[in-house]
This record gives sequence, structure tokens and C-alpha cells, in this order.
Amino acid sequence: MQLSARFVRSVYAAVILASAASAVPFPDSLKHTTLQVRTIGAHKTVESFHPESLFQTFGIDGIDHPLSARAEFSLEEAAVSFVQSKLNVTPNAAAYRTGYSNDVAQHAYIHQQINGIPIANAVANVAFNKANKVVSFGSSFVNVPSNAPSTIPSISAADAISKAENELGGTYNQYPTKLEYVAKQDGSVALTHVVQVRDDSKAMWYQAFVDAHTGDIVQLTDFVSHASYRVLPITKQNVLQGFETLNDPQNLASSPYGWHSSDGVTNTTDTSGNNVIAFVASADGSFWSTTGQSSFTLNFVYYQDPTQAPDALQANIDAARVNTFYVANSMHDIAYQYGFTEAAYNFQDYNFGKGGAEGDRVELSVQDVSSANNSFFATPADGQSGYMRMGIWYYASPARDSSLANDLVVHEYTHGITNRMTGGGTGDCLQTLEAEGLGEGWSDAFAEWTHWQWPTNTFTDWIMAAYVYDDLAGLRNYPYSTNTTTNPLRYSDLQTLNEQHDIGEVWANVLHNVYAQLVAAHGYSATARTDPTTTGGNVVYLHLFLDALAIQPCNPTFPQARDAWIQADAIRYNGANYCLLWNVFASRGLGVNAASHIDDTTVPSEC
Ligand SMILES: *[C@@H]1O[C@H](CO)[C@@H](O)[C@H](O)[C@H]1NC(C)=O
Ligand SMILES: *[C@@H]1O[C@H](CO)[C@@H](O)[C@H](O)[C@H]1NC(C)=O
Ligand SMILES: *[C@@H]1O[C@H](CO)[C@@H](O)[C@H](O)[C@H]1NC(C)=O
Ligand SMILES: [Zn+2]
Repeated sequence: MQLSARFVRSVYAAVILASAASAVPFPDSLKHTTLQVRTIGAHKTVESFHPESLFQTFGIDGIDHPLSARAEFSLEEAAVSFVQSKLNVTPNAAAYRTGYSNDVAQHAYIHQQINGIPIANAVANVAFNKANKVVSFGSSFVNVPSNAPSTIPSISAADAISKAENELGGTYNQYPTKLEYVAKQDGSVALTHVVQVRDDSKAMWYQAFVDAHTGDIVQLTDFVSHASYRVLPITKQNVLQGFETLNDPQNLASSPYGWHSSDGVTNTTDTSGNNVIAFVASADGSFWSTTGQSSFTLNFVYYQDPTQAPDALQANIDAARVNTFYVANSMHDIAYQYGFTEAAYNFQDYNFGKGGAEGDRVELSVQDVSSANNSFFATPADGQSGYMRMGIWYYASPARDSSLANDLVVHEYTHGITNRMTGGGTGDCLQTLEAEGLGEGWSDAFAEWTHWQWPTNTFTDWIMAAYVYDDLAGLRNYPYSTNTTTNPLRYSDLQTLNEQHDIGEVWANVLHNVYAQLVAAHGYSATARTDPTTTGGNVVYLHLFLDALAIQPCNPTFPQARDAWIQADAIRYNGANYCLLWNVFASRGLGVNAASHIDDTTVPSEC
């Protein structure tokens, strides 16, 4: 047999990997790849351990296994002997579980065992080519301690069942229990009763591994299918920052049955659900096409090709629908935590009996033909769907899709929030030019809030819509900045500004300054998108942002919008930020006596 360079390389890689796999106990640094922490009940968590897998591949030709010299090939025997020799384990430590052949390969799946009892989370897989050579090998086998607990349980299966039911809050589903070992992170193993517990009303179905000697739940398998979306995480501003596949990004505290169901019974398998339907409309608007799951249940993984026009490739169209669906649902979930609930006139088809009018999820038209170089959000009253339209922008070649510009998607959804929350859900209360301008300002400001992250960067200037406009300076006249040279806009600029986005820039920059000061004063909470209860400045900011919307009058002016923030702080924080807010507003001309677009820099005497 000739030793090709490829063969030598793969053997070398194998040596390195094999030596890395023998560490026991497993180091904490492997946490993100080996641990899955699940919360059960209000205060209890189960850390499930998944030993790191080593993986080796052996090129086209493959390598021999210990039984290669035999005339007859047995997948089962060849695989087990290969695993035993490779991992240097005793003959009875590895047992064949299942396998099959397809048109190009033969696959065998092995489990590790102790005295004939499988270790649930220690498995191996071997693939052979059609010439019966080993072409790949994966293993999560562990070093078994010499003092492994007895194979005779000291707790009965019935006791393990009631333990699992009590801890998990579901019911044993009568599926036969079995005994298996579980390898734990500390290097020990536990003998367990494997018990299935279900509660369909909570979309819960676990396989629990209950320690047959101590009664503790040491491992959980979650059977409920999870939703995966290949998207631009909402913390990214646009497609240039890279797609990721996110698993279960929905916040069940905001969307109780996830993003694809309003009752946990009837589910969608496309980019439609209780909060949003993201679609491409036919030319006459009569037919809407959504994106379906790419493979198994609720898997939405499409690969956008940036070298092709947004509408030239099916995958690009799908990526756009999936991303807007994800961002708009994320906005629903974030805003919900800060008060844009059913009762506060949000957008949902079904309101779970929590108040407000229903039947009004956001209709989100992707690659909207009437919105070239633009995007829109139309907000009718509570009970009628908001209509969000994301256009293709033709400033770059190939053209760019605003659906892949999270700053624009967030901007548009925010129009829905501000129009609904101002004036009690009528959609009628941001209609004056000045109030429309405030609306544009809030929308840019919310886009900044979702994107800007602390402490990875100090409080920097922020630029809106650079990607779709293909201009690093962005779509607005100035970066949002605390520096008055970089952004000189003041309240008095409203004397000459006559377009709502231009007016909006003044307000968005005031809010940028408020945001900067609140973070400087209170720090930054990394969990703000899902947890509105912490004290971070970004949490305080978003609370005041949404609280003020509900407080301010119909068609507010700038000074009224300012007063609503001061009042929101009084209500929620007992005025803790009174002087901070006044100082920021006054610094941009919105002091105590500001009126009729004439600046004032006065702050209240106590500040
Ligand atoms: C529908 O989704 C819920 C989760 O919200 C899940 O529990 C349920 O099993 C799903 N139903 C079907 C038929 O897939
Ligand atoms: C969009 O902008 C591009 C670049 O300025 C321009 O060539 C094109 O005509 C515009 N399209 C529409 C529909 O306004
Ligand atoms: C503001 O920006 C200008 C122009 O970039 C710069 O010269 C100045 O130092 C900045 N001021 C502060 C306080 O950072
Ligand atoms: Zn806008």
C-alpha cells in the first residue's frame, strides 16, 4: 500500500485528536460545546453533559481496520474492532447498535458500555467506503472510572418515574423505562433509569435520566423540535456582518407558543405565525408566497449568495423572507418585554385573552415591487394588520435587499410600535410633520439600540443604512454622535427642516445622547433583549422609550416628547434620572423654556 501525503496527514491529525480526548474530568473551557443547561421549574436547572466528540477523516482511499485481512467483510465486526483498537478499549466496552449502507458508504453506530449496559452519551460512528476501508471515525467515548456504580439500581423504576414527574412537571408517557449509564462532566458515571415525561399543553417532552442510586436527574434529552433560522442576528446591522444559524431565538415569555403557532396545536411550517407573515407578493398583489422550512421541522436554513441580485436566486429570496421573519418576530418579543403587549395594542393574530384587539399580525412584504430604494410601515388601528414593505435598493451592483439590512427592518417595525403606542392604538397620533419626524427618530434610535453592544465597543458614533445606500456615511446627514462637531443638530434646526426624516435626525441624535449618558451612569446589561428587569442603562433607556410613548399626547411636539421621557422616569424610577435627562435635552436646545423651535439650554434649578 502506498503512503500518500494525504494519508500521512490524516494519521498525524488523528494522533493529535486522540491525545486531546483523554482528559478527565472535562475542562470547563469546553462548556459551550459540551453543556446544555435547561431550566426546569422556576429555580432549578439541569446541566446535561455531552462529551466532546473527536472526529477524523481518511480521504478517498480510507485506512485499514484490524479485520481488513479477512476475506468476508462484516460491517458490525469491522466497526467494533476498529473502535476497540482505535480507542484502546476492552472488547466488551464497545457494542454495535445500528448501521446501514447507501450508494457510496457503509455506516456503523456503536455505543460504549459497562457490564453490558450502554453509556447513553458515549457513542462512536465509523464509515467505510465500498472497498471496506475506514473513511471516517467519530467518538465521544469516555474514560470509565474503575469505581463505576453498581449495575443493580437501589431506586426502583417506579420511584424514578415519580421523581421525574415531580421535578419536570409532566406525566410519564408509559414508554418502557430502561437502565443506562450517563457520563458526567466530573469524569464519573451514573447508572440511571431513563424515563419519558410529557406535557403537551406546555409543548414539553423530555427523556430524563434519573440516577438509580441517588434519585437526581443527571441528564435531560429535549425531544421537542427546535426552530433554526439562518439569519443576521439582530445585534448585527446588515448582511456584511455575516449570517449565523440561530436555534430557538423566540422568547416564550413574549410568544408563548413560539413564532409558528398561536395555540400550540395548529402550527405553521413557513415564514408565517402569530406575530408576522413574511412573504413575496405576486405582481398584482393577489398571491403571497412564504418560505417553507428547508428540511426537517422548523429548519429555515438558506444560503444567500451576495454575488447575485436579491431576486435573481431562490435562495436569496428565501434568505430575505427568513431574515425579516426573524427580525420582526424578535422585535415583537423585545418590545413585548418593555410594554408593547396585547393590551398595549401590539400586532398579533391571537391575543391569548390578554386584552387588545387581535387579528393583526404584521404583514411583511419582502422585495416589495412598489418600494424600490425604500421601505415602509403602515399602521392602522389595533385589530387590523400592520403592513410592512421592504424594497430592493439599487444604489449598488448587484442591488441590495433592505430585508438583509437589520437596521432598516428594525426601523420599519418600530414605526408600528410608536404609531400604536402613541394615543392608544388608533394609528392616528403621529400625523403632524413634527410627530412624524419624532417617529423617524424613534425608528433610527431603536435600530441603534438593537445593534449597539457594550462593552465590545465604547460608546461610538452610529450610522444608519450604510449598506443599502452603499455609502459608508449612511443615509442620514450626520452620524449619530455625542460630539457636537460630528453631529451639530439642535432643536432649533426644526426652523429650517421640512422633511420628516431630516426632523427625525434631530430627535434620534438627542436620544443617542440620552442613551450614551444612561449607559455611562448605569452600565450595560447584556441580557436586555430578553430581561427588562435589570438596572443597565440600556434597559433603563428602552423602558423610558416605550413608557414615554404611552404617556405622550396625540401628535406630540419635541418638548412634549421630552416631557414624556421625564415623566416616564418619574413613574418608573422615581425620577432617578431627572437631571441626567434634563441635562442631555438642554444640551441640544430642548431646555426647560424651549418652545416654537427656539433653543433653550436651561435646566431645572435643582440640576
Ligand atoms: C405545534 O407546536 C407546539 C409548540 O408550540 C408543539 O408543542 C406541538 O407539538 C406542535 N404540534 C404539531 C402537530 O406539530
Ligand atoms: C433607485 O436608485 C437608483 C440609484 O440612484 C436609480 O438608478 C434608480 O432609478 C432608482 N429606482 C427607483 C425606482 O427610484
Ligand atoms: C469631536 O470631533 C472633532 C472632529 O472629529 C474632534 O476634533 C474633537 O476632538 C471631538 N471632540 C471630542 C470632545 O471628542
Ligand atoms: Zn421611517
